[in-house]
Amino acid sequence: MRRDQAVTVEVGLGDRTYDILIGSGLLSRAGAEIARRLPGTRAAVVTDHNVAAAHLGTLKSGLEQGGIQPAIITMPAGEKTKSFAHLEEVVDGILAAKLERGDVVIALGGGVIGDLTGFAAGIVRRGMNLVQIPTSLLAQVDSSVGGKTGINSPRGKNLVGVFHQPKLVLADTEVLDTLPIREFRAGYAELAKYGLIDRPEFFAWLEANWEKVFAGGEERAEAIAEACRAKADVVARDEFETGDRALLNLGHTFGHALEAATQYDGARLVHGEGVAIGMALAHRFSSRLNLASPDDAARVETHLRAVGLPWRMADIAGDLPDAEALLAFITQDKKVSRGALTFILTRGIGQSFIAKDVPASEVLSFLRDNHPASRKAG
Ligand code: GLY
Repeated sequence: MRRDQAVTVEVGLGDRTYDILIGSGLLSRAGAEIARRLPGTRAAVVTDHNVAAAHLGTLKSGLEQGGIQPAIITMPAGEKTKSFAHLEEVVDGILAAKLERGDVVIALGGGVIGDLTGFAAGIVRRGMNLVQIPTSLLAQVDSSVGGKTGINSPRGKNLVGVFHQPKLVLADTEVLDTLPIREFRAGYAELAKYGLIDRPEFFAWLEANWEKVFAGGEERAEAIAEACRAKADVVARDEFETGDRALLNLGHTFGHALEAATQYDGARLVHGEGVAIGMALAHRFSSRLNLASPDDAARVETHLRAVGLPWRMADIAGDLPDAEALLAFITQDKKVSRGALTFILTRGIGQSFIAKDVPASEVLSFLRDNHPASRKAG
């Protein structure tokens, strides 16, 4: 693929259908791509200090080439920015720039900036145009696509927000070259997730090609495009998560519990790493329930280990709370109905399904048997 070419993936939502462009050098072409879809628009760019230092200059000159002189709103980097206080700052910045409903708010950053900015765009003037320019792998394959936006409440993550679809997503694969390897790997867990949900041939392709995906170039762009196709399919089927969209939570039930159990301390576990361990556990748990072959669980573990991701609870530095406490984090995160939980389980690689009747007692004994403390004792 040449530098001026991009793969286009369409998210089919009727008159709200939009494109995801995936390719190298898209920041420099952002102005032309936006002006083609939203002629005459004015814009505000919301970003964080780290991303601004690395990429804002390139984006600004790319926008100027399309005749767009943006207002710039810069936030601190980090999860704490997904707060009411920072939402208010972004909203105020957009209003101070005197943008109208038909103008555009551009999110330049990872998942935090994308979620915060998307929420602001969804509520200012009852809904403004939004363009997502994700700069992390995780944001390119997940959070920038599908319209989920929001901030955290002191009572939990992502509890306040709206569905607000973007008009365009520009996934510039070149910006991933400067990502720290740990962050790239964490995003890779979400990318591999699509193979495990319902694209077994994609998972097999990743097993054979992951090193090229890490190295960059065509394979990286193709992997991101396939992940975006997978996500676009699910979102087009179930935009508001009344059914199939829940499949995207594969690995997240165990993963969220582990994130909570480590107090969201990124030095110990970042979200994508929690998802990696969670996906391995979901496959191991499915095999224990005789739904899937243990060979499939072993295959998932082998791949996660090969790319350098954690794949079992013992890979988390420091002590974990006991199995009962981990189950309490799971039940706090989800509805429990008569002692049964909803989980994403699997019948094999690429055969995930929503299981609504998983006994909490089974989860507890599985957690006990897989807990690092019991492994050490055993
Ligand atoms: N990240 C899960 C979803 O978009 O539904």
